[in-house]
Amino acid sequence: MESLPECLYQNGDLSDEDLKTLIETNQYDQALFALAAQRRKEYYGNDVYIRGLIELTNFCKNNCYYCGIRRDNKNIVRYRLTDEEILSCCGNGHRLGFRTFVLQGGEDAYYTDERICGIVSEIKRLYPDCAVTLSLGEKPYASYKTFFDAGANRYLLRHETANPEHYAALHPEEMSQENRKECLWNLKKIGYQVGSGFMVGSPFQITAHLIGDLRFLQQLQPAMIGIGPYMTHNGTPFKDYPNGSVPLCLRMIALLRLMFPYALIPSTTALGTAHPQGREMGLLAGANVVMPNLSPVKVRKLYELYENKICTDEEAAECRGCLQRRVASVGYQIVTNIGHVKPRKNIGKS
Ligand code: 5AD
Ligand code: FES
Repeated sequence: MESLPECLYQNGDLSDEDLKTLIETNQYDQALFALAAQRRKEYYGNDVYIRGLIELTNFCKNNCYYCGIRRDNKNIVRYRLTDEEILSCCGNGHRLGFRTFVLQGGEDAYYTDERICGIVSEIKRLYPDCAVTLSLGEKPYASYKTFFDAGANRYLLRHETANPEHYAALHPEEMSQENRKECLWNLKKIGYQVGSGFMVGSPFQITAHLIGDLRFLQQLQPAMIGIGPYMTHNGTPFKDYPNGSVPLCLRMIALLRLMFPYALIPSTTALGTAHPQGREMGLLAGANVVMPNLSPVKVRKLYELYENKICTDEEAAECRGCLQRRVASVGYQIVTNIGHVKPRKNIGKS
């Protein structure tokens, strides 16, 4: 009889009961990670994609219990990037080989639809060979549509947890999981490449919730799936809850790779914060994307979703170089083209 990891490798799916066994024990980890790496190799070779993250604003109208930039955290300095600062981050990123810019921020009314569309179309005008990804939270259908029409290609919106009761335990009453899921379906309908995902080890999470997350993703079929360990922050109501487990997060990455072989799976900053080699281990468990920070160094510490976030002192070029080495140290290589762009003459290695 085949082992559970073998079965998952063969079929791309397992019963809830078998998934539960895989999630709750570490005895299958070696086999699981090896098969996830194999599947990743079949689809993506040794390639690792980079996405440049630009953190626009840490103002947020929401009050998620786990998040350091929630509106009730009065102990942080709030900032917003100007259009010029954003474009200069993109210029810097473009010189470093980035061809995808991810504009992420809290839900900040200052960034009206018009403002976002202006920024998106300007980036597309200046860098026609680049993809623009937005990660700005829940918006009405019409807003998503205007961003798309202005040139945005992708949208990241983690579902956080697919279980309604668990969602209600992580968020205040004014937020609804129904709306979040509706947003994800709207994004798909409009034609975005959608990224979703969840936190591992968030307070009150049980195995059944994680299985529910996998089942929800099977329905949604997102292009990208981002997960990372829950990390505590002193300025939140969850400050006394422990960080999520790194081994569990790695196991979930491997399960994702085997269930969603085509998916872009980032080895996240949260994973790198939870463990010094977290991102390397994430790549070895099946992840194939890294998202270095391109935000101006002066605001990096302020975009503090959780404590001790890494890469807050380093310039974009330093993170780029650092990740290049880290990715190479586990046998993979960063690639910088996004497929439809003709490679240009190679002017020296970066
Ligand atoms: N720990 C880990 N991840 C967090 N996020 C927000 N707060 C935390 C935290 N305390 C994640 C959420 C969000 C993404 C941008 O960051 O999943 O979608
Ligand atoms: Fe930022 Fe290593 S990736 S310093």
